[in-house]
Amino acid sequence: MIDNSFHIITFGCQMNVHDSQWLARALEARGFCEAPLEEARVVVVNTCSVREKPEQKVMSTLGRIRQVTGNSPRVLVAVTGCVAQQLGEKLFSRQVRLVAGSDGISGTPQAIERLLDEPALRLSLLDFTSHYVEREPGADTPSAPVGFVNIMQGCDNFCAYCIVPYTRGRQKSRLTPAILDECRHLLDRGAREITLLGQNVNAFGRDAHGDGVSFAALLEKVAALPGLKRLRYVTPHPKDMGPEDVAAFADIPQLCPRLHLPLQAGSDAVLKRMGRKYDSARYLDLVAGLRDARPDIALSTDLIVGFPGETEEDFAATLELMRASDFMSSFSFCYSDRPGTRASRFLDKIAPDVQQDRLLRLQALQEALSQRWLDARVGQECEVLLENASRREATTDDSLQSWQGRDAYGALVHVPLPAGDHTGRLVSARIVEAKKHSLVAEATGQPW
Ligand code: SAH
Ligand code: SF4
Ligand code: F3S
Repeated sequence: MIDNSFHIITFGCQMNVHDSQWLARALEARGFCEAPLEEARVVVVNTCSVREKPEQKVMSTLGRIRQVTGNSPRVLVAVTGCVAQQLGEKLFSRQVRLVAGSDGISGTPQAIERLLDEPALRLSLLDFTSHYVEREPGADTPSAPVGFVNIMQGCDNFCAYCIVPYTRGRQKSRLTPAILDECRHLLDRGAREITLLGQNVNAFGRDAHGDGVSFAALLEKVAALPGLKRLRYVTPHPKDMGPEDVAAFADIPQLCPRLHLPLQAGSDAVLKRMGRKYDSARYLDLVAGLRDARPDIALSTDLIVGFPGETEEDFAATLELMRASDFMSSFSFCYSDRPGTRASRFLDKIAPDVQQDRLLRLQALQEALSQRWLDARVGQECEVLLENASRREATTDDSLQSWQGRDAYGALVHVPLPAGDHTGRLVSARIVEAKKHSLVAEATGQPW
């Protein structure tokens, strides 16, 4: 075991993935190096509690760490993120001597150093801060073609089913200059695509910490940065998606023709009990407005089945809205009770086998919609931002190697290319085949 080695295990959303990447760079800047779990002195588990399953995974992961490390007190385990925020010091054990919640993550590198020096100490960083805390810069990493930038922390919506406002705290917008600085830094080091991250991005600026810049204005500012080819964001909320956010898809060429717009349910009665504050007509209006602004826009979504009281008719309305919105993909989940939420106290819970049956039917419909969307792409021209050589995809021509990347819609595309490192390059291509979850294309020019 090397004394300053660390290993991070991450669950949950893109914001968690992003937090883990920052933590890794911050630890490297302090002289730590990444190592396999078996060899690491410090193990960080960055957790998610959005449904019961991910929470259970955290517990089984802590068990696995105990086993792999022989429960040695020399190994320091830190639990960070949403489960840490929720369970706090209950997580302390022989090895778990640090719990850090959503806002505590920024203090985690210092806390880890201190805990390595003081083996009898335990620390908890569970307080919510009053404003968005800027994080220390990490070690400079090799440039990545795709970058992620936080624009806010937390959420104020309190949808009836959701634990996020409790685990991530109230919405705190980050200051615009700090966001633009981080974007510039990524672009300087070779990024060509940036995704802005937050739990409710179009409410950016609409909290006590806003600096007067609206979300649509922020998009324009980021899009104007030299070097940026593609701009994306997750996650917007349909109720906060204003006309200027829709117009941005017509006006900002860098903004990709792809939007992940969580619907959750198609029945107005269910949406109302979820506290989503929009109905199916408003959602369909938005979809129509978006297609007006950008006829080729590809939409994806999040869906919950078996919300308390959901009838077969309610569920049919969800399927209906999926067809009407023509989603190119979706994430779908069975409703899961979360402690402290309003829905957890609703009485008319849906039996797990009914939930499961609805989930399978929903996913079968999505498979069909997704395949139709992919099939319709065959013959189209596109631009692929190349990420890495494809592992499994073979090429028919020995002098070529298959590379993979994403087109502007976010679809995975495989392209055979001449030998060389094409990471971060763009290539024009024509789609020649639709596979089950990806596309195959032929380059029509040189990568640049
Ligand atoms: N802020 C984002 C993401 C929230 S969490 C948004 O509002 O869209 C990601 C997804 O998890 C949600 O969109 C929802 O579909 C799902 N989810 C959240 N709580 C859930 C619960 N209690 N049971 C099942 N799915 C849930
Ligand atoms: Fe949860 Fe709703 Fe906030 Fe999304 S908008 S994080 S679903 S409370
Ligand atoms: Fe999970 Fe927390 Fe993200 S609950 S989805 S890690 S905000």
